[in-house]
Amino acid sequence: MTTALAAQQTYHLSEAETHKLWRLSQLAAGASEASALALSGLLLDLPKSVRTALLEFAEAGADSGFLLLRGVTVGDLPDTPTVHHSGALQGHPTDGTLTLVADLLGSLVGYLDEKDGALIHDVHAVPGEEKRIENSGSVAFDFHTENVHHPLRPDYLGLLCLRQDHEGVAATRVASVREAVRLLTEEQVAILRTPQFYSSYPASFTRGRSGPVPRSGPHPAVFGPYDRPFMRFNSHTTHAAGAEATAALKALSEALEAVCHNVVLEPGDLVVVDNHVAAHGRSAFVPRYDGRDRWLRRFYSVRSLPGWTQHMMPRQRVVPTLEDIQGVL
Ligand SMILES: [Fe+2]
Repeated sequence: MTTALAAQQTYHLSEAETHKLWRLSQLAAGASEASALALSGLLLDLPKSVRTALLEFAEAGADSGFLLLRGVTVGDLPDTPTVHHSGALQGHPTDGTLTLVADLLGSLVGYLDEKDGALIHDVHAVPGEEKRIENSGSVAFDFHTENVHHPLRPDYLGLLCLRQDHEGVAATRVASVREAVRLLTEEQVAILRTPQFYSSYPASFTRGRSGPVPRSGPHPAVFGPYDRPFMRFNSHTTHAAGAEATAALKALSEALEAVCHNVVLEPGDLVVVDNHVAAHGRSAFVPRYDGRDRWLRRFYSVRSLPGWTQHMMPRQRVVPTLEDIQGVL
């Protein structure tokens, strides 16, 4: 089942707002590695209604767990890359767009363990990796909260669509725990709230590593206030310790499926997801590797990081390896 996209989950930029955001994005693009302070003037110049929509989403949240901005300029684009880390858009104004939105919500960050700490991630299919459950795949990617294994998970992620798949069928699937728990029994929710779940490191954090995949936990799958809960769950990598908890996890998966919003992103659509409220995924599509394939760009944003983490950063905005912070949190 799929629910319709409610109007309050979508903000359409006016033509003037589109132009202003693009101008600020061009200025911010060269500063994406710089401190938040260097960008603060540009953040203040963002169109007031766009700022308000994003800040209200960050402060008050939304039961759906996402906000869709439509009408974002994507500019001139080269062919969709077919290799990892092509750097095809280094310095592109969309770097600036994503940095500004991430810094308005919190702070743009990358993880040294993932893509060598890249701050903006290009999401497109890579030949031979169609079945990988990460950015480079094209098979269905089930519900997950981002970096589920990590103690410093992103608070928000953003996905900007540069190009759709050829058939226009690939949907970004977003499912909120706040909507899903209404379909669960009190007993199931109580089980999901107990720390008896384990999450293996996702594929993007173990690329190039051999040996058994490490895991984090035990942790709860649902936590926070009863009327406004949060979630830590990846349908591919989160597992329960016993039969009862396994059944509760399955019920959560089914409830997420029942409340899922299928958002078919078009060029210029930027969806912002609250990573503790909503899980996200992707439906399958067929890449052609002809330079016109589906291409999204992703950011992570955190509201705050401990001071010691910031002082351990190998580069500005890059969270140290898990090995370096293991056991501290
Ligand atoms: Fe994801």
